[in-house]
Amino acid sequence: MTTIPADTVALRDYERRFHERVPPAIAAYVAGYAADGLTQRDNRVAFDRLRLLPRALADLSQPSARTELFGQPLDYPILIAPTAWHRLVHADGELATVHAASLARTWMTVSTQASVTLEDIARAAATTLWFQLYLQPRREDTLTLVRRAEQAGYQAIVLTIDAVVSGIRNVEQRAGFRLPDGIGAVNLAGFAPPAPVDASQGSPVFRQMLRDAPTWRDVAWLCSQTVLPVLVKGLLHPADVVPALDAGVSGIVVSNHGGRTLDGVPATIDALPAVVRAVDGAVPVLLDGGIRRGTDIVKAIALGARAVMVGQPVLHALAVGGVPGVAHMLTVLQTELEVAMALLGCARLAALPGTVLPRAG
Ligand code: LAC
Repeated sequence: MTTIPADTVALRDYERRFHERVPPAIAAYVAGYAADGLTQRDNRVAFDRLRLLPRALADLSQPSARTELFGQPLDYPILIAPTAWHRLVHADGELATVHAASLARTWMTVSTQASVTLEDIARAAATTLWFQLYLQPRREDTLTLVRRAEQAGYQAIVLTIDAVVSGIRNVEQRAGFRLPDGIGAVNLAGFAPPAPVDASQGSPVFRQMLRDAPTWRDVAWLCSQTVLPVLVKGLLHPADVVPALDAGVSGIVVSNHGGRTLDGVPATIDALPAVVRAVDGAVPVLLDGGIRRGTDIVKAIALGARAVMVGQPVLHALAVGGVPGVAHMLTVLQTELEVAMALLGCARLAALPGTVLPRAG
């Protein structure tokens, strides 16, 4: 039975204990950033720079943090972001995460690179599941994944668009991270492996890896193949909003992959307002990257996000406290959000815009 240390009261406490407990190479993968970590640091710093301005003595008699996405109500605007290989930090992997998500009534996005099959996760779920998709080099493989997710009851497809190649993962490289035996991409079993890289053909990145890089045409194709809402995750440039909407997406996740792909892109909270303006209410906009406090959620909602996603904190809590750890971590975020709303004088999420002070300069 896992016991959560009594002084584990905030997401940062899980993060600290995660680094105390988890082997360094695995911690380097989970917490790792691309290159020098400029973007991962900025995800946090940008939240910390923002200040909140409360209203006093507002009517708080009927408070609620409820919202809705694609016609389904959710109690809190907090979802679990897709992250790979939960079995790296817990024997039951995603089965433990989904149990905790169900206890905390939190929706979970399951990664293509889950270490448990998407069907087994669905069978263990008592909450809404979304499926994160990487377009596969062969369309029939992509369709197989989408059909399996539909059949298993997943409610949306979250297409990651910011990782046509992997980022420069120096943290992982220095730590010598490799997937342990017995943990792998079980959902991709049976698909043809990527063609081996032939160094005699010149740069493996430009000459070979980008051969199958998707474009907006592939997103339009995907949207035409499924009745599920398709969200794109990893959009930062407001000029990409029109192509995304033209392709038929139902939602946008402003994300920089937790700072794990291109180092040097802006913090998500800094990129959010321009994307929200470009979307102009056409589809819901979500945000991930650096959420560690209820006040971060407030800031994201105030600047136009419908909801936020948390990724790394889930793995921190899973490693430290298993199912109770993840459920507790999610409850901490929910409670912090309630406290922030109460102290801001906002009985509803819709009242939050206007509570973030415009930045000087
Ligand atoms: C990563 C990939 C799996 O960030 O999305 O490691």
